[in-house]
Amino acid sequence: MIRYTPDLDGITAERLQGGFFVGWPNPPSPEMHLRILQNAYRVVLAVDDAAENQPVIGFINAISDGVLTAFIPLLEVLPAYQGQGIGTELTRRMLEALQPLYAVDLLCDESLIPFYQRLGLIPVTGAARRNYAMQSGCPITNAVLTDLGDHE
Ligand SMILES: CC(C)(COP(=O)(O)OP(=O)(O)OC[C@H]1O[C@@H](n2cnc3c(N)ncnc32)[C@H](O)[C@@H]1OP(=O)(O)O)[C@@H](O)C(=O)NCCC(=O)NCCS
Repeated sequence: MIRYTPDLDGITAERLQGGFFVGWPNPPSPEMHLRILQNAYRVVLAVDDAAENQPVIGFINAISDGVLTAFIPLLEVLPAYQGQGIGTELTRRMLEALQPLYAVDLLCDESLIPFYQRLGLIPVTGAARRNYAMQSGCPITNAVLTDLGDHE
């Protein structure tokens, strides 16, 4: 049975080892994945309670200023669990959690626009930068990043 939770209590890197970041040449490790979730503003996880060690089989995260805007960087369901409505339910729950905010943005391939339109999102134009050397995750901590920003 699939359980949805906004809670990271008891979630370890071991429970994130199912093979997320499919197709990424340089994916974050399960440890880095856990940091991504811990540093997020909101997460929703899909957990397979019936499987050994109760693995996380899908997740969505959001980052936000908590005032006006949120961004959804990642949504993924493990291939073996796709096509059962899990991605839809993760997104629906995240959008509900972000309901008080003015703007919720995400980037996706053109082919996924209908998936998000079904959930009430509208297509917009965007722009982005990608530093592929950091695709597996930034090794330095938030504190250091903040400190770097302090020096003009
Ligand atoms: C996108 C994703 C999260 C959907 O999860 P899911 O649990 O399979 O989704 P649901 O079962 O709720 O919905 C399935 C619908 O998603 C749509 N969909 C899924 N993957 C798609 C893709 N690559 N292109 C277009 N539509 C897609 C289909 O419309 C499908 O509808 P159908 O069941 O009528 O065929 C999952 O395919 C995934 O993890 N993909 C890889 C990572 C990714 O692309 N994430 C999105 C980042 S913006």
